Amino acid sequence: METVQVQEQITAMPRIGDKAPAFKAVTTQGNINFPADYKGKWVILFSHPADFTPVCTSEFMRFATLENKFGNANCKLVGLSIDGLYSHIAWLRTIKDKIEFKGMKNVEVKFPLIEDITMEVAKKYGMIQPGESKTQAVRAVFFIDPKGMIRAIIYYPLSLGRNFDEIYRALIAMQTSDAFKVATPADWNPGDDVIISPAGSCGVAEERMDKKDGELQCGDWFFCTKKLAKEELLHTVLKN
Ligand code: BEZ
Repeated sequence: METVQVQEQITAMPRIGDKAPAFKAVTTQGNINFPADYKGKWVILFSHPADFTPVCTSEFMRFATLENKFGNANCKLVGLSIDGLYSHIAWLRTIKDKIEFKGMKNVEVKFPLIEDITMEVAKKYGMIQPGESKTQAVRAVFFIDPKGMIRAIIYYPLSLGRNFDEIYRALIAMQTSDAFKVATPADWNPGDDVIISPAGSCGVAEERMDKKDGELQCGDWFFCTKKLAKEELLHTVLKN
């Protein structure tokens, strides 16, 4: 294959708003057909550099411990690294049998871990970033919605373990935006005020500034927030 073509394959970067690239893969939980098998669910597809490495081990323990929490938000987890199936199995067994970290022990990873020794999936998802490593995937996190669309992407370098509170917060924030047609401001967490879309006409702008005691709090015509009770939000987004 031409060098240019290989380079293009490696650097293909799916973007927010794209359909999640489809693939079939072997995993530690059997074969999967992605994203078709996950229709109607959110999926977090994440890559990690290699099995039997410490940062990755800590991350897998956190993800496995949080799997039910993500499940309650209608979200499945799928991992990937450029290792073979038997390496994956051996590593996950070692984690369960031997590793203790921050109060977690005997942690069983029950979500699928894709074998991607050919890098086919990693290349499709832009997980190989040659400036960081030509042979290991960076720590990518793809949020894929129930319609199979990519809704958010976070990349971390090899040395930096992910923040799982942020990954969960981002998921719930996007579900909140979908369910209530609102946006979420900086550092938003369930229970905080949400942002309503900016006024789209002079009339609406005026109306918003005139309303002094409605449900909206407007700092200016383009900056309006409203309350969204945590209970209502969680009842809606965690109902599945
Ligand atoms: C780790 O998971 O510990 C790791 C993997 C690749 C490079 C650096 C750290």
